[in-house]
Amino acid sequence: MSPLPPLPPTPPDQPLPSDGQGLVALYDPGVIAYPEQTYEHLLARYGSLAPVVIAPGVPVWLALDFQRITSICRTPHLWTRDTRAWRLWAEGRIGDQAEILAMLSWRPNLLFAEEAEHGRLRRPVTDALKGLDVKWVAARTGQVVQRLIAEFAADGHADLVGQYCRPLVRTMMGELFGLTPDSTRRLTDLVTRIWDGADAPTALGNLEHLLSGVIADRQRLLATGRRLPADFTSALVSAPGLGSVEEMIQTMVVTIGAGCEPTANLISSAVALSLTDPAVAAALADGEMQLPDLLHFTLRQQPPITHYPGLVATRDNIYPGVRAGDLVLLGLAAAGLPTPALHPMDPRGLHIGNRSGVGFGAGDHACPAQHIALLIAHIAIAELRAALPGLSSQQRPQDLRHRQSVFARALMDLPVTFTAQHAQRPAPASRTSARQHPATAASPPWQARRTTPSRPPSRLLRLPFMRRRSR
Ligand code: HEM
Repeated sequence: MSPLPPLPPTPPDQPLPSDGQGLVALYDPGVIAYPEQTYEHLLARYGSLAPVVIAPGVPVWLALDFQRITSICRTPHLWTRDTRAWRLWAEGRIGDQAEILAMLSWRPNLLFAEEAEHGRLRRPVTDALKGLDVKWVAARTGQVVQRLIAEFAADGHADLVGQYCRPLVRTMMGELFGLTPDSTRRLTDLVTRIWDGADAPTALGNLEHLLSGVIADRQRLLATGRRLPADFTSALVSAPGLGSVEEMIQTMVVTIGAGCEPTANLISSAVALSLTDPAVAAALADGEMQLPDLLHFTLRQQPPITHYPGLVATRDNIYPGVRAGDLVLLGLAAAGLPTPALHPMDPRGLHIGNRSGVGFGAGDHACPAQHIALLIAHIAIAELRAALPGLSSQQRPQDLRHRQSVFARALMDLPVTFTAQHAQRPAPASRTSARQHPATAASPPWQARRTTPSRPPSRLLRLPFMRRRSR
């Protein structure tokens, strides 16, 4: 597998070729293995809006730089999130069972809505997230990582994707959403298949079915006046804004889909960078780079969400060649390409302190859970580095294996070695996180903070999920 060959120059301002012939395919294993070279080729050939294909015969535009992406995100009258306007799909040229549709076809949730409708659908999510007790998240993350590390600490080696990042985020999301361990395992596998296009339509159907069961369970509790468990699902089900069960299911689909995969992939990519990129490793070792810098560096250079979401042009010629009904994907990974000309003082390209990336999106739809994702990722990496002396990877950056996803950057595995730890000891980072969150250790456990069942659900319900206003 090698990077793309040099591309011939192209005449500017051409519309998307209807069959996509001759375009770079984002699903090509060479492109997935060498994304930076691909983006450079595309930028050189087309500028910051390039035609690509995302499945055989499915051409779309890819926005490749920060300005272009933020401008598209901030002009909803020109670019709609409602993908029912996507011409190729509307004309029936993409089969209903196409893998990409599980990520791109319109559904009644915040991701696919604009302006007032977006506000209505987003508010229940942001309200629930605002109430989430971050001290609980910090404490619980610390407990889960200690348990996971203890499972492999004596071995002297581990696969950090399969044994650490994925089980950590799976456990956290399962608890936040109030799912049983069995549902959590099934659900995260389904989410991965949706992101990767691996029998994605079936996975989406199964995910919707699973979530409808969880929602029906909460609704039964509500209807019979019993107290709801303290979780995000209960908050959504009892929120006044969502109009139908379908909206609840689809809001859960996007929130779980946006939460599980990217968070696990951010952690694994950041750890991989810290172990395989000599400049990053050196900057971390001498203290010049701190963990928040590492996370933001990873979000810029190797964001978990690479080419997503999709927006549809509402009129012709917003940019030369673009027609109404064309789909554009936000190339979040391309937008973080190092630009040495703009940062001549940082020849290593680390840009420590630069937090201006678009890894969490931009504009009104920017990820509402950034603080939660960063908190979990920070604790996961701090604890790992503190608990496992000699942590290292034998792999070079080019040896790392990534899953074949058009929309995500996800390591398949991350084999590491370290000095085997035979006695369980409290890791220094645990003490640090306990110090940073002094109330955490003393906080009542999640289950202990229950609702008052006699109150009507929509406004007065104070879920244990919610921060207590009086504190
Ligand atoms: C490192 C982890 C994460 C990354 C990189 C990430 C990134 C993103 C991106 C790029 C978007 C799309 C922005 C746009 O449409 O322009 C998004 C949206 C969203 N994310 Fe995240 N996310 C992460 C974690 C989470 C978590 C943990 C949750 C929830 C628990 C979450 C919930 C959402 C929701 C609900 C949306 C839709 C927002 C809207 O359309 O208004 N994300 N996220």
